[in-house]
This record gives sequence, C-alpha cells and structure tokens, in this order.
Amino acid sequence: MRMRAAVLSQQGLPRPYAESRPIAIEEVELDGPGPGEVLVEIGGAGLCHSDLSTIENLRPRKMPTVPGHEAAGIVRELGAGVRGLKRDDHVAMVFVSSCRECRYCQGGRPNLCESSWGARTEGTLVSGARRLRRLDGSPLHHYSGLSTFAQYAVVSASSLVSIPKEVPFTVAAAFGCAVVTGVGAVFNTAETRPGTPLAVVGLGGVGLSALLGAVAAGANPIVAVDVSEAKLALARELGATHAVNARAADALAQVKDITGGGVDVAIETAGTIPAMETAYALCARGGITVSAGLPAPTSSFAYRHAALVSDERQIRGSYMGSCVPGRDIPRFMGLYLAGRLPIERLFSGALRLEEINQGFDRLAEGTVVRQVLTPNAA
Ligand SMILES: NC(=O)c1ccc[n+]([C@@H]2O[C@H](COP(=O)([O-])OP(=O)(O)OC[C@H]3O[C@@H](n4cnc5c(N)ncnc54)[C@H](O)[C@@H]3O)[C@@H](O)[C@H]2O)c1
Ligand SMILES: [Zn+2]
Ligand SMILES: [Zn+2]
Repeated sequence: MRMRAAVLSQQGLPRPYAESRPIAIEEVELDGPGPGEVLVEIGGAGLCHSDLSTIENLRPRKMPTVPGHEAAGIVRELGAGVRGLKRDDHVAMVFVSSCRECRYCQGGRPNLCESSWGARTEGTLVSGARRLRRLDGSPLHHYSGLSTFAQYAVVSASSLVSIPKEVPFTVAAAFGCAVVTGVGAVFNTAETRPGTPLAVVGLGGVGLSALLGAVAAGANPIVAVDVSEAKLALARELGATHAVNARAADALAQVKDITGGGVDVAIETAGTIPAMETAYALCARGGITVSAGLPAPTSSFAYRHAALVSDERQIRGSYMGSCVPGRDIPRFMGLYLAGRLPIERLFSGALRLEEINQGFDRLAEGTVVRQVLTPNAA
C-alpha cells in the first residue's frame, strides 16, 4: 500500500531542524504483514528523546529510515499465525519485539531479546524482513522494529499489546516507551517499596513517568531534579514532594537535607553523564542508582570503587523498564484508568506529520514533554 511517512536520510544535521530539515515527509510503499506480523494504523506516535538522539547521530542507525518507536493504533490486518489479536483491536506498540525463543525470552526478560537487538542494528523486523520501500524501489530501514512516524506500520505481533478502546491514542502512545521505561524502572528495576526516599533526575517523558510511578508506589519523599524550572514546577504538580535544580551549587546538600542523608533509590532519566553523576551522588549508603538514560554509546561513567563496596551501593541499567510488556502494560493501564497514573498530564500537544522537525526542535530545547504525531488525523 501507499502511505505517507517521515523519512530520516541523514544523521547529524545541525539545529534548528525547522531549517536543516533532517526528516522529510514522503509517499512510500508498505508491504502487507508476513507470518507473525500485523498491519497497524497509527493513532498517535510520541516524539521521544531516543529519536532525537538518532537524528543527532548519538545513535548510529542504518539510513534511510522511518523513525518513531512509541505509539498506539488500530489493528488493520493480521499475518499468518498471529494469535491473541484481532482486527480493530487497539494496541500499544513497544520498542523491543521478542523472538520468544532466545535465552532472554525464555528466561522471562523479553526486553533483552537477542534477535531484536540484531534487527535493530540491521533496520529490519525481528523476522529479518523489510516491508518498507521508497517509490523507486530503494529500501527504507525499520526503526526499533516499529517505524511509527507514518500512517501505518507493519510490525511483529510481539511488539503489540492490546489496550482498552477508551484510552485516547494521544495518551496510549506513551505507554509504548515513556511509561514502560519510567514506571517500569521504579516498579521492576528498583523494586520500590512504600516509604522509600526516591529521586528522579531528568524530567522528560520518561522521568515524569518515573515520577508518577514513584507516587503510585508510595515512595516518600520524592525529589524531582532537573535543570529546567518549568519541569520542576510540573513535577511538583504531579506529586514530587521536593524539587531541586541540578545546577544549584548546593543541589546535593539540599537533597541530603531533605532525605536525612540521601535517597535509597535514584532514577536517572536524562541520558547524560552529568545527570548520572548527580543521581549516583544523591544516593545514601546502601542505595541503588537506576539508569534509564541513553547517552552516546562511547560515553562512560566513573565512580569510586572502594566506596561502592563499603557503602553497598548498586548501579543498575534499566532497559524498557525491565518490563514484560504483556504483563506490565495492562497493569500500568489499569493504574491510569483508576486515576492513579495520570499519564495524560505528559501530553504537550498533537502534531501533523509536516510539523515533525519543529517538534524535535522543541524537544531539544526542553520546552515540551510528550508531543504526539497524529498522522491520520483529518
Ligand atoms: N532505557 C530505556 O529503555 C529508554 C527508553 C526511552 C528513552 N530512553 C532515554 O531516556 C532519556 C530521556 O528520554 P526523554 O524522552 O524523557 O527525554 P527528554 O528530552 O524529554 O527529557 C530529558 C530531561 O532531562 C533533563 N536534563 C538534562 N540534563 C540534565 C542534568 N544534567 N540533570 C538533570 N536533568 C537534566 C532535561 O532538562 C529534560 O527535562 C533519553 O536518553 C532517552 O534516549 C531510554
Ligand atoms: Zn523512547
Ligand atoms: Zn528473544
């Protein structure tokens, strides 16, 4: 079928993107779903910092590609052998598909699926197939097995989780990345218990999801940390008990004061090494620093090893919030529907496909949380 899609052909172009235009809207060809695959009409697709890092060339990917990895939509066609989904179902689309066979899938950690990793590097679906083409027949690569900045996507059924139809797509989209990552980091990776002193460092879509997760988990106090006063103000509205500007000279002292010596859990969701250093420094003895941010693959974080040992500190990576999507998205959706995870507060506005470059300028400036493309809106 023919459809309109956002195509990224070159990484590393300068900002403002409204002028350099790294992404162009093109008519492209999308093949129908193969075995185990599903055609989804995109209802909403969020602009995440990981897409921005790809545009910035912090994350090298095969070009040209149709980016976008956080979305929700409607099942329009099922490939052979797909079970558990039917036409017209509403689905959230998660950015790690899984093969169900590798050691990680078998071990209950599909977020680490080996085949998905290879497909991500090669720009294919997890099956190895490529369903996207330019009209001249030249290949277009898939992005995170999804490529959601388009009117439709053909994806592996393992990337999809059914969701209730009452949830608007502009909210549901965030469940595919920001929510699984942020809320999952709090519940799954950090195993946060009620009453745990906790900090979130970096208050974008992922960090504010973590903050809402921390509120739902009963963490207390909850210290929100960012470099933007507007983000700190929003965090307070969303339930942070305290807000600290990371640029303040006494930021660390403030947090130690608030928490009587540091937090037990610090969640880093900024994607920079300075933010990771802050998150690590905020922890008390025995504390865990969970990092969900993704800086350039070459950057590294240093810590004092003897203190890690004698303080029994922990550092844990958190990929897709250590989530099992089919288990966790219904749980987090349930909290949202009960009013205990107000993800709609992260929505910063709907965009047309043509507005995508400007949208990434705003994300880079830090003036928005989640902007959602609605490529099929009238
Ligand atoms: N681990 C995963 O599975 C996963 C999934 C999605 C996104 N990510 C990564 O998470 C990160 C956040 O994504 P997002 O879409 O929420 O980004 P975002 O751009 O919306 O938010 C980042 C926030 O961090 C703040 N920040 C920057 N430097 C800081 C510092 N030194 N101290 C405190 N705050 C600082 C910014 O002001 C901004 O509010 C990115 O690196 C992204 O690639 C990881
Ligand atoms: Zn993302
Ligand atoms: Zn697997």
